[in-house]
Amino acid sequence: MPRTPQSDAPYLDALRAYAARDPGRFHVPGHKGGPGADPGLRDALGPGALALDIPALTHGIDVGGEPTPFQEAQDLAAQAWGARRTWFLVNGASQGNHVALLTLAHRGRSVVVQRNAHSSTIDALVVSGLRPTFVAPELDPELFVAHCMTPEALDLALRETPDAVGATVVSPTYFGAMADVAALLEVAHSHGVPLVVDESWGAHLAFHEDLPRHALALGADLVISSTHKIVGSLTQSAMIHLGHGDLMDEDVVDRCITLIESTSPSSLLTGSLDAARRLAAVHGRELLSETLRALALARDAVREIPGLDVLDERLAGAPGVFAYDPLRLVIDVRGTGHSGYELARIVRERDDVNLELAGENVMVAVFGIGEDATAGAARLMVALRHVVETLSKSPEDRLDEAFAAPPPWGELAMTPREAFLGPQEVVPTREAVGRVAAESLAAYPPGIPNVLPGERLTAETLDYIRQALDHGGSLRGASDRRLETLRVAVER
Ligand SMILES: Cc1ncc(COP(=O)(O)O)c(C=O)c1O
Repeated sequence: MPRTPQSDAPYLDALRAYAARDPGRFHVPGHKGGPGADPGLRDALGPGALALDIPALTHGIDVGGEPTPFQEAQDLAAQAWGARRTWFLVNGASQGNHVALLTLAHRGRSVVVQRNAHSSTIDALVVSGLRPTFVAPELDPELFVAHCMTPEALDLALRETPDAVGATVVSPTYFGAMADVAALLEVAHSHGVPLVVDESWGAHLAFHEDLPRHALALGADLVISSTHKIVGSLTQSAMIHLGHGDLMDEDVVDRCITLIESTSPSSLLTGSLDAARRLAAVHGRELLSETLRALALARDAVREIPGLDVLDERLAGAPGVFAYDPLRLVIDVRGTGHSGYELARIVRERDDVNLELAGENVMVAVFGIGEDATAGAARLMVALRHVVETLSKSPEDRLDEAFAAPPPWGELAMTPREAFLGPQEVVPTREAVGRVAAESLAAYPPGIPNVLPGERLTAETLDYIRQALDHGGSLRGASDRRLETLRVAVER
């Protein structure tokens, strides 16, 4: 483990030192640290940022005397989160999910996957060729949002899949629900397989004792962390952490990262990860205390707005919710009689307040650890009061149809990889019933994938998606977003 203190940012400092000495830059990138860049870009980013944009394999930064500043930075991150080893990722937590399943694919052919996993996990099934046994998340019966996988459901899936080489779960969810990771780990390990936790939304959890315990602290085998989401590195930067167990091979993780990573990882993204780690490790507790205080007040304020409610730790104990992560402000809009889509559109148009996510029943506002959450929450409250006032003047537009739960997904007739890469054709949607999908379909609301590549299409599912579109929802994953045609596998 590093001797460098957490208050250092060795990689960022090495970049700055390189730029400050004005080196002869006879290497990429062609903008040469700024002078060769478009003046508009120079203005927008500032000369400082461009000067720090240097290639991999730069002496004194990631090659040369060891440990290099790059190695030190990753070691400091491993120490800060409590990992055996940490890798910086420059293609987001999406890359982390690809790496996780490619790593598992070294052990065998089958894996247990939470059905509402992020699309990058589904893509990872295509990339890795693993055959999934899907486990349904618990669906909130009132809000129709998906929570986490229960240990009982994992146990059942692992019993049904004796050749499974691992399982992957999401915790926390977009909505702040946290899985019982300790119990999930116990189940996975009792079957002799590792547990991957997609903790993309939980990079902050390690830095405050009032927050639910994070996956590495509970002994997870591999943890995906989208550091940019809440801890505040630059968009697209993330980390993958290896736990202390012996079910995942460090060298295999490393080779899978190399396989899918650009040979030109961005120094700006990497530097931002080093800096975000420092901020979280040194000031995270104090910053989070402030954010938690501000969000507790914001929750009270939302509840006082007629028609609005807010999710909080009272959700813990509901099926699929072991604990609650308060860094998300999830606003329940059902009492307004209008959809979250509509409210989100109005706050954007009227007050330029842009939310992370809107669904039929909820809207999600995200807070980062370092921002002035008091000021941010105050601005949001003003916009929410405005929108509720505006809507109370147009009660005739109220929603009159309750939102229905999606039908069960179709049988998995081939692996996602076989369906995605095998022979396929585009057919009119009315002729697609009974065929095997070669693409994903996820109707928003609520955004849980209705169809994944390899699943047989049912009339109920296609009707459900059509209804969601007719209600103003949208479709993700489909090549034809109007659902007039579908890409299906040609079965031989
Ligand atoms: C659960 C989960 N995993 C992975 C990702 C992918 O993260 P990134 O955007 O950093 O690639 C997301 C993004 O929203 C996510 O919600």
